[in-house]
Amino acid sequence: MTGMQESSLVTGIDLLEISRMRRSMQSPRFMTRVFSVKEQALFGQKGKGAAASAAANFAAKEAFSKAMGTGVRGFALPEVQLLRDELGKPYLELTGKALAMVQAKGLELSVSVSHTQEYACAVVVGLRRKTEGGTEHD
Ligand SMILES: CC(C)(COP(=O)(O)OP(=O)(O)OC[C@H]1O[C@@H](n2cnc3c(N)ncnc32)[C@H](O)[C@@H]1OP(=O)(O)O)[C@@H](O)C(=O)NCCC(=O)NCCS
Repeated sequence: MTGMQESSLVTGIDLLEISRMRRSMQSPRFMTRVFSVKEQALFGQKGKGAAASAAANFAAKEAFSKAMGTGVRGFALPEVQLLRDELGKPYLELTGKALAMVQAKGLELSVSVSHTQEYACAVVVGLRRKTEGGTEHD
């Protein structure tokens, strides 16, 4: 298999320091450039855990970019939103170019994050559900 071949399974991972995120969060410009309104509202509810969750969200965006194989280009970071369901499970909600990329590749994505006092990490896995003709695998 060559590196350029489209794979039916893609994966991306990222790890970052929460202290760096805590510093970056002091800049409203950084927050707007990186996070959606929904994500910023989520951090607002996290109290002391805001920096850890923001670091996890950032890691998810970078993990997404690696799963796509592009790095952070061709989409805007706020288009890759990491939200939480009623049980606290994270899920990706994509908009704009990020959504278009995933749809064009026919991918279904899954994400998981973790953090300690110091570090946050995220993994994004994608499975191609459609064949070239656009039909689903069984
Ligand atoms: C791909 C990218 C996400 C790597 O992230 P990083 O934080 O710089 O570095 P990491 O240590 O997390 O990851 C490095 C690894 O990513 C992998 N990687 C590099 N390019 C990649 C790509 N196009 N697709 C998938 N993985 C890639 C490599 O394996 C690399 O490790 P290696 O050099 O030992 O092989 C980075 O190139 C990028 O696009 N960064 C953008 C950052 C940015 O724009 N931030 C803006 C907000 S502040």
